[in-house]
Amino acid sequence: MTNDEMKKAAAEAALDYIDNGDVVGVGTGSTANHFINALVRIKGKIDGAVASSEDSAERLRSSGITVLNLNDTGDLPVYVDGADEATRHLHLIKGGGGALTREKIVAAASNKFICIADRSKLVDVLGQFPLPVEVIPMAQSLVARRLAGLGGQPILRRDFTTDNGNIILDIKGLSILEPAVLEGEINQIPGVVTVGIFAQRPATVLLLGTKTGVDLIR
Ligand code: 5RP
Repeated sequence: MTNDEMKKAAAEAALDYIDNGDVVGVGTGSTANHFINALVRIKGKIDGAVASSEDSAERLRSSGITVLNLNDTGDLPVYVDGADEATRHLHLIKGGGGALTREKIVAAASNKFICIADRSKLVDVLGQFPLPVEVIPMAQSLVARRLAGLGGQPILRRDFTTDNGNIILDIKGLSILEPAVLEGEINQIPGVVTVGIFAQRPATVLLLGTKTGVDLIR
């Protein structure tokens, strides 16, 4: 079984968390795209979706799923999205696709966050994957210096602008032993919009596609 097949298996398993009449929060990336494909099969059962990126919104619309504005929906019952790294404590690194800010917003507005991934994303300690940080462009240099002060090596993501018009710094070389603490510290740096650590609000459930099926961690 390939990684992509494992992503698909996890995405299909997330359908079990969708109820009649739900407005579903939908994430971004290749695993979330598998979830959108699965959601199409039950689109008559849901009342629409809130997307965490322009890419996913477009994909949902072209699949015939109504895309709603989070300001019109209130809290959502469920958000389904992938991750770049995940631990057994349900702490995540996200933002490999650059959609971390809207992902964190939709996750925060959702009662349940179902994280879907292939087995390769499970780690003991976060930080092997360069940590994405969305930054207001004029603060690039200030934020980079502060991040270096925390022990990381920030690298500007080239030729990339977020859906919110900002840049991404990817931080290499961090071993994130206290994810919720570091999340708070980085979020406090002026000019940081969002850090891609999801620990203060972890996933509710992690569905991991493996060679033999889908493992559930909660
Ligand atoms: C996008 C994300 C994605 O969830 C993350 O990058 C995982 O992507 P994929 O499902 O393609 O492996 O956080 O900003």
